[in-house]
Amino acid sequence: MAAWRAGVTYAAPVATTWDPEQYLRFEAERARPFHDLVAQVGQVAHRSPGTVVDLGCGPGQLTATLADRWPAARVTGVDSSAAMIAEAVPRTRPGRLDFVHQAIEDWWPAAPVDLVVSNAALQWVPSHVDLLGTWVREAITPGGTIAFQVPSPGGSAAAIAFRTVAASPRWADRLAAVALGSGPRGSRTPVRTPDEYLDLLARLGCAVNAWETTYLHVLPGEDPVLEWFSGTGLRPYLDALAGDAEAVRAFRTGVAEALREAYPREPYGTVLPFRRTFVVAGRR
Ligand SMILES: C[S@@+](CC[C@H](N)C(=O)[O-])C[C@H]1O[C@@H](n2cnc3c(N)ncnc32)[C@H](O)[C@@H]1O
Repeated sequence: MAAWRAGVTYAAPVATTWDPEQYLRFEAERARPFHDLVAQVGQVAHRSPGTVVDLGCGPGQLTATLADRWPAARVTGVDSSAAMIAEAVPRTRPGRLDFVHQAIEDWWPAAPVDLVVSNAALQWVPSHVDLLGTWVREAITPGGTIAFQVPSPGGSAAAIAFRTVAASPRWADRLAAVALGSGPRGSRTPVRTPDEYLDLLARLGCAVNAWETTYLHVLPGEDPVLEWFSGTGLRPYLDALAGDAEAVRAFRTGVAEALREAYPREPYGTVLPFRRTFVVAGRR
């Protein structure tokens, strides 16, 4: 994979740290949209892919399922987190499955690929809408497919809780900029609606299957919604406080209170509704 595409400049990636262990605490719930997405690839793609890339592959366990599903394909996982790639690399299968430590913004294939998959990662890439157009035109083969899933835009109760606590007088000077930022739980999320993605990709000549699903995750234990987002959407806030353990503890306590109100604990667990956008676009 070439490191950078000459002549194209995009915004810098959001610098967020990732903790594979925390992320994998809800492995089954996080895997479900990936499988729901990949299940639709065959509906749009008209042949088995020979080359597959998983952008924002995380710890790689889902990337490995792509190699299982298409045994003749060469599969590459790409991720900008050194910790995630370190977790993924032991899953390497020489000639069949490998992992590259690289930002999505810098990814460019040596030759066009047949299938690009990206699950729960493009919301971290502010330039992804522009990149989708470029990939469709130049980075995938005719007949190839791009399949991605992102959290749907719009004010989830969790995003509102993070921003409300971050904008309070106790935290505003350190966290207001994060709340305003372009991360998936910031107010300027780069994520578009399903119909906007459909319109963009259909205008580029793709056959597009776009849809939205709300999962009702029933989570066990105490403060599970805080734990869930500590692995993803809360990370930019925690990163901004990194090195100040007392501030991290106090901020998490404030967020936990707000989340308990927004997502009450029931006798059977805590329900986290999570709306996700799916797009599978086949290049004709
Ligand atoms: C929510 S995790 C999803 C991981 C995996 N796709 C899955 O479904 O389990 C988001 C992943 O995107 C990666 N990521 C975020 N921004 C990125 C970027 N600009 N370039 C490459 N990877 C990025 C993170 O390191 C993280 O591993």
